[in-house]
Amino acid sequence: MESAVKALLTPGKGLLAADESIGTIGKRFEALGIASTEENRRAYRELLFTTPGLADHISGAILFDETIRQSTGGEPFPRALARKGIIPGIKVDKGTAALPFFEGEKVTQGLDGLRERLAEYRQMGARFTKWRAVIAVGDGLPTPACIGANAHALALFAALSQEAGLVPIVEPEVLMDGDHTLARCGEVTAGVLKTVFAALFEHRVRLETMLLKSNMVLPGKDCPQQPAAGEVAEATIRCLRRVVPAAVPGIVFLSGGQTGVEATQRLNAICGISGSPWILSFSFGRALQDDALGAWRGLTANAAAAQEALRHRASCNGLAVQGKHTARAERERLID
Ligand code: 13P
Repeated sequence: MESAVKALLTPGKGLLAADESIGTIGKRFEALGIASTEENRRAYRELLFTTPGLADHISGAILFDETIRQSTGGEPFPRALARKGIIPGIKVDKGTAALPFFEGEKVTQGLDGLRERLAEYRQMGARFTKWRAVIAVGDGLPTPACIGANAHALALFAALSQEAGLVPIVEPEVLMDGDHTLARCGEVTAGVLKTVFAALFEHRVRLETMLLKSNMVLPGKDCPQQPAAGEVAEATIRCLRRVVPAAVPGIVFLSGGQTGVEATQRLNAICGISGSPWILSFSFGRALQDDALGAWRGLTANAAAAQEALRHRASCNGLAVQGKHTARAERERLID
């Protein structure tokens, strides 16, 4: 697990989250008129994973249960990725369910049978795992019951993963939906992380061999005040310093509905602040894939343009983790 953590946190690289469930990828395909067949989902992930130069900026890829069982040219995806120097990982939660008696809140499912599934995924080549909890911000939300239930599940997931020799990525996502302020997101994120780390400690999770996947501290999408990247970066770092133990080797950010360029600019500002005890990087889904999926649209003829869109975003984010992203780097695309 130590060597996987080190490799995942290679300077200048981050993670590609390509672990959308069948339902989620189906919605993204449908918006572009792409049929969500098993073969189309395989072809899309093949396009992503075989992007030339991907490993220059991507250290790990998170897969979904269907994807880890699929292949490219007869070679299973996990093996094809590992051969390129990209560590394969797997989303192991089974999505969210409504939290009974707590309207608007959710709890993540998937602990039943997890020990057995982890053994199988490890044998298929996975070296790390991910579990996502979602926390909504609103009037009276989140409640302590929602935070507590999700923190408990995250801790059990992390302990089971480490027992299986897999590095857990613990992801409590505070959502961007709503009109809450930057300050409110900071308060909620700090409170959630404090509870999550208490649960991890209680469950004897080794902080040295896990990663935190966090939201950036951002105002809600509908908040009239949208701060500059520098302000987001300061709020994010201030929040994380207060509640994330220094024993955690790395924090990787999710994009959560930001555009690709927004996520890169904010990541660049966050990583430009020196003196943090952890390595900071990205584990983006939409912010890495949106341009590529939009370019592909299900057509083989568009594959090269789609791969170039992914390579470009990965390369911009590779610069951002070093605080070196510029407007000029943003313009340097090989195919438009
Ligand atoms: P986004 O970057 O699209 O938020 O996805 C990251 C992820 O893995 C969510 O679980």
